[in-house]
Amino acid sequence: MSYLSIRDLDLNGKKVFIRVDFNVPLVKNEKGEMEISSDKRIKSSIPTIQYALDHGAGVILASHLGRPKGKPNPEMSLRPVAARLAELLGRPVKMAPDCVGPEVEAMLPAPGEVLLLENLRYHAEEEKNDVEFSKKLAALCDVYVNDAFGSAHRAHASTEGMVRFVSAAAAGLLMEQELKYLGMATTNPPRPCVAILGGAKVSDKIEVIENLGKIVDQLLIGGAMAYTFLKAQGLPTGKSLVEEDKVPLAAKLLAELGGKLMLPVDHVVVSEIAAGAANEVVETIPADKIAVDIGPATIAKFSQVIASAKTVIWNGPMGIFEKPPFDTGTVALAKAVAASSATSVVGGGDSEKAIKAAGVSSKISHISTGGGASLEFLAGIKLPGVAALER
Ligand code: 3PG
Repeated sequence: MSYLSIRDLDLNGKKVFIRVDFNVPLVKNEKGEMEISSDKRIKSSIPTIQYALDHGAGVILASHLGRPKGKPNPEMSLRPVAARLAELLGRPVKMAPDCVGPEVEAMLPAPGEVLLLENLRYHAEEEKNDVEFSKKLAALCDVYVNDAFGSAHRAHASTEGMVRFVSAAAAGLLMEQELKYLGMATTNPPRPCVAILGGAKVSDKIEVIENLGKIVDQLLIGGAMAYTFLKAQGLPTGKSLVEEDKVPLAAKLLAELGGKLMLPVDHVVVSEIAAGAANEVVETIPADKIAVDIGPATIAKFSQVIASAKTVIWNGPMGIFEKPPFDTGTVALAKAVAASSATSVVGGGDSEKAIKAAGVSSKISHISTGGGASLEFLAGIKLPGVAALER
């Protein structure tokens, strides 16, 4: 490992700045207050925060939430997160009115205390990776820990810039866990190594297909992006979603990856896309139909490959997951991944939802907290937040 871990730092009596990813989904309740609809990212950061507290640190937590475009926006305040965090930690969490400035400096935590800074993106300098802003953040602390894997693909002041101005920088426990699993899956995976890729567009996953194509033994493609590949093979795709301009690229990938790339052999088709719409299973997509999920023969074929895998990497749904019953293929694969003895690494919101819907979350080795970050990692791109720790 070419970066330090929080375990390598002397935290006793120190102020530790922990960059977390508290970019949680919020919904407005009837009273007009913002409520957290999933606290997964808050829960995932607890081990690092607890570790720092147990080792005598005063903890400064910093995150972005949403995209407030450089201005304060009460709907994107981290205040609801402070309340939930206090419940989870079982101790008070002080909420700062801002993330820099004299008021924040006056609130800095003593050992055993937790201070949550207000949304970093209320300042445009955060996303600009501004040097002066980075220095101001760095001046708040003695040591820096990055536990925000979900934001590690952003070269912002709190994830990249400030690392130059702190006396010690290390990865938090969640960051370490993410890098361990994603790193294992993409550098020296136990074989056979199988990747399952789904989602609507080939264009979103070109780099991932190209990079994983070099690493894995088998690449299973589902979701609407499969139809662009079927078109490239000269097969009928009916009215299914096809990215016409990406057909030549799909043909190139098919030629490069040969037998590694496995496409659906049957499909659930409908005349119009609506939850519960009349559907049938076909091997050849009729001209007037839209394919919305993988069929039972594909589920069986993909499940067989997954059953013999030692490593499974999964990103993206196999069909129009949000409109049941067209979540059948995705949920079936979630069960297949859970049933296999492979080390399984899952990224992306829909695959995670499928795993929850199938009730198999506890059987997955690692569910990434990063959407964009895990995709960039799988594409072989060096994440700026990680590169900064290595420096
Ligand atoms: C995420 O949710 O993927 C991260 O928190 C990054 O958020 P961003 O896409 O707004 O930079």
